[in-house]
Amino acid sequence: MASPGSSAPGRVAVVGSGLIGRSWAMLFASGGFRVKLFDIEPRQVTDALVSLRKEMKTLELSGYLKGELGAEEQLSLISGCSDLREAVEGALHVQECVPENLELKRKLFAQLDKIADDHVVLSSSSSCLLPSKLFAGLVHVKQCLVAHPVNPPYYVPLVELVPHPETAPATVDRTYALMQRVGQSPVRLLREVDGFALNRLQYAVIAEAWRLVEEGVVSPGDLDLVMSDGLGLRYAFIGPLETMHLNAEGMLSYCDRYSEGMKRVLKTFGPIPEFSGVTAEKVHQAMCVKVPDDAEHLAARRVWRDGCLMRLAQLKRQLPQ
Ligand code: NAI
Repeated sequence: MASPGSSAPGRVAVVGSGLIGRSWAMLFASGGFRVKLFDIEPRQVTDALVSLRKEMKTLELSGYLKGELGAEEQLSLISGCSDLREAVEGALHVQECVPENLELKRKLFAQLDKIADDHVVLSSSSSCLLPSKLFAGLVHVKQCLVAHPVNPPYYVPLVELVPHPETAPATVDRTYALMQRVGQSPVRLLREVDGFALNRLQYAVIAEAWRLVEEGVVSPGDLDLVMSDGLGLRYAFIGPLETMHLNAEGMLSYCDRYSEGMKRVLKTFGPIPEFSGVTAEKVHQAMCVKVPDDAEHLAARRVWRDGCLMRLAQLKRQLPQ
């Protein structure tokens, strides 16, 4: 087994050691990077180090630990830090993971802007804040971008890279390479758009799911099966565009055969749902039959979901692409 040490590829700072910060720390360590974990709440860092140890040991025992190094070596690469400057100095990449609040993030990036040298990449994990809002006015704006992971990032490798209009192409290229190096699957958005790509797709699906239930076409439970036992199986391996390509004699043949039908159906899609009232009650009740909404049942179901995703991620790694 390889060992860490002087050959470590470099240092990364993770700012904010909650759910997402912890996942990034594990991913960067799996790629052999030294990680400094900072949080405004020192207790969060202490708790993070304890929970990372437990999780990485469990992953190692079950054979799901990522990377070439063993759990102990990876853990030795991660250290806590109580000073932002110390965490960032000498890092090649800073991954911000503080709560999704524009003012809070802008304040933090203003601090990072003062500490940053001209080489470090300043990357935000934001799910939906636009780079033009997050990084406006920063001296080091060329070095800034959003790298949006998907929860849980350790098992769902997609990372959306979203530039500010002034982000240097080299910043995106370096982050793309870093993400690949730690086993993630980066995609480049060529310009920012509200919701990025993932949430725009997700919200399109949620909106139509909601309308179908609201209009009494299908029950909430059956609607979810349409995805989990239907579309979802395929989408774990190929996207909607490749699906079109394969479902006819190539893309042009698909458009030829099905575009009229698609447009006819698309014209019947209704307005944006309110996501409230009677339908919200109905969907809530149906979901609670399967998973009661108390903390214990929700946590148990999330553990089950993450276990499934972990196995699927391993299967995908084993299969030819
Ligand atoms: P969290 O609430 O679990 O963790 C946030 C951490 O940031 C806390 O430990 C908090 O003490 C710390 N913090 C607050 N202010 C700080 C500051 N000024 N400096 C340093 N640390 C500070 O939040 P979570 O879920 O980890 O989310 C972090 C970011 O990741 C958010 O932008 C969120 O939108 C994004 N994200 C979250 C996903 C999720 O499913 N939770 C998925 C993808 C992205």
